[in-house]
Amino acid sequence: MDEDTPDDGGNERADGEPSEDVALDPWGSASVGDYADLFAEFGIEAFDDVADDVTDPHYLMRRGVIFGHREYGAVAEAMANDEPFAALSGFMPTGDPHIGHKLVFDEIIWHQRQGADAFGLIADLEAHSARGMSWDEIDEHARNYLLSLLALGFDAEEGELYRQSDNRAVQDLGFELGSKANFSEFEAIYGFDGETNISHMQSVVTQTADILYPQLVDEPKPTVIPVGPDQDPHVRLTRDLATRVRYFKVSEAFASFELDDDERRLVRAAYDALADDADDAETDVRCEDAADWLADYEPPEADRESVDLTAAKQSALDKLRAGGKEPLRPRVRFFDRNATEEAFEALIEAVDGEKRVFEGHVDAFDLTRGEAESLAREVEIDTGGFGFRQPSSIYHRFMTGLTGGKMSSSVPASHISLLDDPEDGYDKVKAATTGGRDTADEQRERGGEADECPVYELYAYLLAGDDDELTKTVYSECVNGERLCGGCKEQAADLMREFLEDHQAKREEAEALLDDLDIDLDSDRRGTGGEH
Ligand code: TRP
Ligand code: SF4
Repeated sequence: MDEDTPDDGGNERADGEPSEDVALDPWGSASVGDYADLFAEFGIEAFDDVADDVTDPHYLMRRGVIFGHREYGAVAEAMANDEPFAALSGFMPTGDPHIGHKLVFDEIIWHQRQGADAFGLIADLEAHSARGMSWDEIDEHARNYLLSLLALGFDAEEGELYRQSDNRAVQDLGFELGSKANFSEFEAIYGFDGETNISHMQSVVTQTADILYPQLVDEPKPTVIPVGPDQDPHVRLTRDLATRVRYFKVSEAFASFELDDDERRLVRAAYDALADDADDAETDVRCEDAADWLADYEPPEADRESVDLTAAKQSALDKLRAGGKEPLRPRVRFFDRNATEEAFEALIEAVDGEKRVFEGHVDAFDLTRGEAESLAREVEIDTGGFGFRQPSSIYHRFMTGLTGGKMSSSVPASHISLLDDPEDGYDKVKAATTGGRDTADEQRERGGEADECPVYELYAYLLAGDDDELTKTVYSECVNGERLCGGCKEQAADLMREFLEDHQAKREEAEALLDDLDIDLDSDRRGTGGEH
């Protein structure tokens, strides 16, 4: 995945130019001009914001390699409280696994050791339909990915490995999710058009099913998808679909009419103020009284900055006035979004305390929002629905190619394959571009540019492993001019050779493990050879 994409253009930009057109393309160029753009442009959040909630974070988290996330807080919380959670990622078997994929292997394995139900999948349908790989090629590459994942420590007895084409439950789930997405949406998200082959589209639906699969085999739970940011479009789509298939939508209301979030804050302020003074808050607070109160209300400064309160206030006033003498009472509302009749009936039955049933929704007066969410999910699952939670994700930076520029599997010198002969690995590091100065004297005087150096990256992303002291030493010695590139590369090249020797020995041991698994790597499937 990610680094595995060919150099076929995409969203690169000239150095330093502000990006006009940020795009995340799962099948395009695996490079990102400026990671900060992804926060503003797509709503990916900075990993720093949740980092403190993670107990004993992985070194990729500590070193800023994992830079972004969506709702990872839910996963961190489950982890901290010993509650169930899952981790899943997938690999397109288009070539040999390389050191860029190792980041993702390590992320899955780390979460597994932290208690996650862990999943690794081979995206063979995607490789065949989007990359034109033949089934024989796919079988061979799939084997190599799985061996490396096992060699790095994936516990296949605890976790699950599968290939998309063999997983009937994933296929069925994809079919179901596909009924909630349409072509215009795929056009907008992925740039698909009339030339896009249908199986490619099917592979997208399959990926959304992969992402929700951990919640299907067991129960709904926080799930993290560790990937490169190019996969974010899939994550966003899946988060949407996870919601679209839900039976009920839970919201908070005060009367028979609907309020948006801003209106609701204002109405809540009115209700709280009036209920305080009322003899019996359940009957004495009326919509029209709230309107009178709200008309004179000045929201706090902080609220006025973030939203257009003038518009919200006007519309809330209109709704309250139209409500007239209707009592204003806080309640949670269950909307029937996709429920079967049987499920809606079961929900009504299950709501404890005072409730009022309407066409298409139920209001409950004695439940908190949290209780209502759990109840909705429970009833949904009991009556044949999925009850999915929105999946979370974490995003890692792409490694820079050893020759500068981006790491690309079509340029062997730019990356190190996990199958490379250890001596070749050594040589590639020795030949790598550095952030060093033109002469040793200049280097001693001005220091090297570790932040621009692919060799420094190798230390931070892989070679130093858990040893933060080593990365810190390399960094400070480099920028202080105490370290020269020749020796620095020699040390890195030695470590790389050692890593590859060790990894390949473990791959051999993993052969037996793999053979014991129920995963068909000789698919004997008929098909076309694909385009070459
Ligand atoms: N599309 C991913 C890639 O390009 C592979 C993939 C398939 C995947 N299903 C997934 C990744 C689910 C993460 C989660 O490599
Ligand atoms: Fe890179 Fe090492 Fe040279 Fe610094 S000393 S620029 S880290 S190779």
